[in-house]
Amino acid sequence: MTLQPTALQTSPKSELYAQLSAQLRSLLEGERDFIANAANFSALLFHSLPDVNWAGFYLYKDRELVLGPFQGKPGCVRIAMGKGVCGTAAERRQTVVVDNVHEFPGHIACNSGSNSEIVVPAIKGDRLIGVLDLDSPSFGRFDEEDARGLDELVRVFVKSTECGFAA
Ligand code: SME
Repeated sequence: MTLQPTALQTSPKSELYAQLSAQLRSLLEGERDFIANAANFSALLFHSLPDVNWAGFYLYKDRELVLGPFQGKPGCVRIAMGKGVCGTAAERRQTVVVDNVHEFPGHIACNSGSNSEIVVPAIKGDRLIGVLDLDSPSFGRFDEEDARGLDELVRVFVKSTECGFAA
């Protein structure tokens, strides 16, 4: 049997993230303003990823997370480090994928329609900028491919954007 490396290495999800990476690069090209880029990044994700009801940022300011640009229903404004999914990802500086948010200790229910969540830290050098948070009304919506794809998109965002406000 002949192996087909290309077919083995791609999936509909990884193709979607590759397209999003190209779209994000062109969306951010020539602009470094944090609010403009974070707002456009959130809108791109919210309107391109299926089955997502919230996409946006919590920003690290004065040792807590504060709501930043997002798409979706209004969210909680301040989250302490270590609290909820966002505070946990920020404190650990690691991506956290939660299949069922109702089972996550300390989950902060900003939106009763959300059942699963992924949170990706945004780090520049050794500085925590904040986290990117995505919610879904479906259980188990996010997996390792989403984690890899979103990690890459956050890297593109951080590299293209002025993040001078972070401590
Ligand atoms: N559920 C999050 C809070 C943010 S909202 O989902 C927009 C958490 O537990 O950190």
